[in-house]
Amino acid sequence: MILALETSCDDTCAAVVDGPRVLSNIVSSQAAHHAEFGGVVPEVASRHHLELINPVIDAALAEAGCGLGDIDSIAVTTHPGLIGALLVGVNSAKSLAAATRKPLIAVDHLHGHLAAAWLEPDPLEPPFLGLIASGGHTLLAAVHDSTGYELIGQTLDDAAGEALDKAARMLGLGYPGGPAIQREAEDGDPGAFQFPIAMSHGGGLDLSFSGLKTSLLYAIRDLPEGELEARRADLAASFQTAVVAQLAAKLERALKGGEWNAVALGGGVAANTLLRERAAEICERRGVRLKLVSLDLCTDNAAMIGSAARFGTPTAYPDYLGWDAAASSRQPRA
Ligand code: KG4
Ligand code: ZN
Repeated sequence: MILALETSCDDTCAAVVDGPRVLSNIVSSQAAHHAEFGGVVPEVASRHHLELINPVIDAALAEAGCGLGDIDSIAVTTHPGLIGALLVGVNSAKSLAAATRKPLIAVDHLHGHLAAAWLEPDPLEPPFLGLIASGGHTLLAAVHDSTGYELIGQTLDDAAGEALDKAARMLGLGYPGGPAIQREAEDGDPGAFQFPIAMSHGGGLDLSFSGLKTSLLYAIRDLPEGELEARRADLAASFQTAVVAQLAAKLERALKGGEWNAVALGGGVAANTLLRERAAEICERRGVRLKLVSLDLCTDNAAMIGSAARFGTPTAYPDYLGWDAAASSRQPRA
């Protein structure tokens, strides 16, 4: 049994996993605290993690129906993420592990997003092609086995979720932007505005979203005075379509270029209905299994960190006492 902690961004998370079974998965979202700023404020996130981490750990143990004595090892996200936010999780995990003399397992957050695929129900075991799209990262990964992943493409600028968050802010739709854009898009025409699909004919498996963001800025600027209100849903639907079209194009290109039998989507943007539908169409057409994890396992959570930790390297007490969170956040990726 693994107690896992995740505090790399603005969600304070703790979970207990037993192999591929999730016994508890507690997420305390700070979104409301960051909404007024239109994005995550790192210092605000760190302070809230400090207040929330102990109650969240208690809740995870209580829901799993166990105590610290039943836990075999402690896992924690060490990188990448906001350094002050990571520090809270890493130091909490170190303290708990040291007090109970249990081993500690460092987990790469992105490995965690991929590892959500091999949790129950219907675990998808590697090898598979992973597409991670979140607020901080957008990448394609060749997941050959459970211990790590090979990066085969990534965004050269903004992450897909970051583009959605910034677009939502420009449209006055609040934070987090992805779900807000999805809601607004329901009433809009996805073909109303032709936004560019970056790198659709080149760039290999790399992606780019910053130009798309600028196109939205210009589209808003060029609207007749007072028209934003009337065109907001069309802009949201067209923007969402452009983001998803690029992700779908790169997913299809990766499938064409490799011998894949299965695909897993991960990261907060993988909660997007349009992306899930497009990915399902592509995988069905190509005869490939698609693993879509539940929405609460797409966005940041600690169950996925516990899932990756099963295949991580435990560090025995007291060797982790000297861990420096800042240094560990710069560990090379697996
Ligand atoms: O994986 P995640 O929870 O945190 C990071 O590691 O970044 O992803 C958060 C991102 C945010 O940008 C949020 O706007 C986006 O995921 N997101 C969505 C949806 N739900 C969350 N984007 C599109 N559609 C959604 N339904
Ligand atoms: Zn994430």
